[in-house]
Amino acid sequence: MLSDRIGRITPSATLAMTAKAAELRETGVDVINLSVGEPDFPTPENICLAGKQAIDDGHTRYTPGGGTMDLKRAVIEKLSRDNHLQYDTSEILISCGGKHSLYNACQALFQTGDEVIIFSPYWVSFPDFVSVTGAQPVFVKTDPSQQYEPVMDDLISKITSRTKGIIINSPSNPTGGVWGDDAVLRVLELAKEADVWIFSDECYEQLTYDRTYISTAMLGENTEKVLTFQSCSKTYAMTGWRIGYTAGNKQVIKAMGKLQGQSTSCPSSIAQVAAIEALTGNQSEVSRMRNVFKDRRKYIVDRLNNMSGVNCDTPGGAFYVFPDFSSYMGIDNKIKSSDDLSMYLLEQKAVVTVAGKAFGSDSNVRFSYAASEDDLKRAMDLLEESLAELK
Ligand SMILES: Cc1ncc(COP(=O)(O)O)c(C=O)c1O
Repeated sequence: MLSDRIGRITPSATLAMTAKAAELRETGVDVINLSVGEPDFPTPENICLAGKQAIDDGHTRYTPGGGTMDLKRAVIEKLSRDNHLQYDTSEILISCGGKHSLYNACQALFQTGDEVIIFSPYWVSFPDFVSVTGAQPVFVKTDPSQQYEPVMDDLISKITSRTKGIIINSPSNPTGGVWGDDAVLRVLELAKEADVWIFSDECYEQLTYDRTYISTAMLGENTEKVLTFQSCSKTYAMTGWRIGYTAGNKQVIKAMGKLQGQSTSCPSSIAQVAAIEALTGNQSEVSRMRNVFKDRRKYIVDRLNNMSGVNCDTPGGAFYVFPDFSSYMGIDNKIKSSDDLSMYLLEQKAVVTVAGKAFGSDSNVRFSYAASEDDLKRAMDLLEESLAELK
């Protein structure tokens, strides 16, 4: 009955864990949820006030499908201020979140017969975005000890005449890895040689802890085939407002706008007004949240590395850690996969995580540290207890 297209989509593992946590909570269990991919902070007050004002001011109607000119100008101001990137309004499209932007771009550029390179471990949605277009996702290995930078030989061997795009996501979900500029530059060079598109998913660009982030399109010389994707979701704790945007080649932006116009129409008019305040108003909450995440990163990485048999490299960004638990997995063990470990933590300790398998790495589990210090401490105590039981 259903189309082949739907058969090519796997349900999001992260959303499934969030739903499971909610179910358990309903039954009265005190759940600690470290599966979430969103800041645990409320949207800053100035942004909420702008949203409320937008309703009072009557911004409650359709806007142009690709977003208002005012918001596009705010995006241009933001990209220039934070990323030193210069764009024109014809090179900007506003969508219903970064996820929507990435989906639309895949639809605009990829089709059956194409191959698209994705670095593994990868955000769960990338393979689905690609396969739903009919194109083939091709996975390239990365090095956990080097912030999950690509294994270049593997990348070189995977680029073929069918390669149409390469998706970069630094800082990364699920690993938190932040690539060095040299790694990004090398990928840009290889992409240039092969004449392929680069998608730079920069939704965590404001969450780097050890060095200033440089946008992919700022690195390298000829970046006309780089599409930059950013979002208000993580930077401004606005996940529910659903505002993301793409900057890049005019023709691609126009094609994405055409698709958007015949599918979702415009992003929420109210959220667009709030996003202008987010992008151009007071930015102090962004650094406050970043500093809190940085402290939590240290806490969780230290706790994990103090547990016997657990290996956790310090990620440079986002709000995830992706420790390796391979020493706990084996044929004779109770735990044989990341799914088993994640399920054990959920069923025995009510700690919600996401198994690495969903991200292409079955010896890891993703923990989000977008949670209170108290929850992080309790979760780490319970993990330690579980690992002692499993040894
Ligand atoms: C790597 C990555 N890209 C894009 C997104 C999309 O976020 P949003 O659609 O809320 O902007 C997410 C959300 O979790 C993500 O982790």
